[in-house]
Amino acid sequence: KIYPVILCGGSGTRLWPRSRASKPKPFLPLVGESTLFEAAVSRCPAEKGFAPPVVVTGHKHLDHVEEQLGSGEGGQILVEPVARNTAAAIALAACRLPEDAVMLVCPSDHHIGNPHAFADAALAAADLAREGWLVSFGIEATAPETGFGYLKRGEAIGAKGFRTAQFVEKPDLETAKGFLAEGIYAWNGGIFAFRVKDFLNELQMHRPQIASVVAEAVAKGREEGRRFHPDADTFASVESDSVDYAVMENTQHAAMVPADMNWSDIGNWHALHEALARDENGNSVRGSGKTEMVDCRNVLVDSDGPRVSVIGLEDVIVVVDGDDIMITTVAGVQKVGKLDGAANQ
Ligand code: GDD
Ligand code: MG
Repeated sequence: KIYPVILCGGSGTRLWPRSRASKPKPFLPLVGESTLFEAAVSRCPAEKGFAPPVVVTGHKHLDHVEEQLGSGEGGQILVEPVARNTAAAIALAACRLPEDAVMLVCPSDHHIGNPHAFADAALAAADLAREGWLVSFGIEATAPETGFGYLKRGEAIGAKGFRTAQFVEKPDLETAKGFLAEGIYAWNGGIFAFRVKDFLNELQMHRPQIASVVAEAVAKGREEGRRFHPDADTFASVESDSVDYAVMENTQHAAMVPADMNWSDIGNWHALHEALARDENGNSVRGSGKTEMVDCRNVLVDSDGPRVSVIGLEDVIVVVDGDDIMITTVAGVQKVGKLDGAANQ
């Protein structure tokens, strides 16, 4: 069995005003009917060999997780007393699973347009994980993005995998441009397959503080129905680091499985626009509000009620949510998270 470990920690301020502290990005139906969290859970169904999900989240997301996970799923919800980044979050899940189990770490804030390709890649990744590899999903790199990790493709292992010759988390722009030009780097999709004991061994080797303090917090933790609470004081003293820096950049056993699955991390409004169905002029509409566009190209309008009418605009995004209206050019989307509205929701 493969154990899905669903990470639910981020807030998604760059998708303000839709994503807010009260209803953050993973819990919104951004593409289609399901929320990103619901979609992440349903990509790992029992009939494809997945165990019930292990969700790792904080107090502030707990109500949304409980509601959207439903009651029939089984599984566990691991509640972080404070956020200590992904190395600790994954270690927490690892400490709650059998040591020979394969865990599939899945962010809860991504969109995957082709779930079948995801499932195929997951099975291939799990096979490699059973041989001791720490496996990343590789996404074809199409731009010199600096917010992603990069995987350098090494020699083939098995039918579908490669050794990761180098893992570079969040390179600077010049380095990212160089990687793109070389053509043998993929983006790290943030989805990983590990055997529990291999992950914990590597963490112990490269970040012993995280490995031992999380284990202690789990040993002193308590169960409450399907929730599990690690000891709060102990967990608070865990070093904060991402799995990418802590483990993936350092391990000698990194592998990758290329996954062509129409992936997007929906990192900003433009990325969401690209994941949505667009008309022949590249325009798209979401939300329940009425919308009229005349002579527009590449415009996204998302309104939760008020009618929005737009004439003659190009490369613009208009979002209406409650009392908030946010309008940006496509070029400005990275700055949305820095708006006062997004910062003080
Ligand atoms: N439970 C929990 N606790 N989840 C967390 C925490 C935490 O403390 N911190 C982050 N997460 C969750 C986020 O909600 C997200 O689903 C996932 O872990 C990854 O964290 P991000 O903060 O979004 O990481 P990133 O986007 O900067 O980089 C990662 O993802 C990229 C692809 O989207 C890296 O893995 C990159 O290498 C990768 O390219
Ligand atoms: Mg992210």
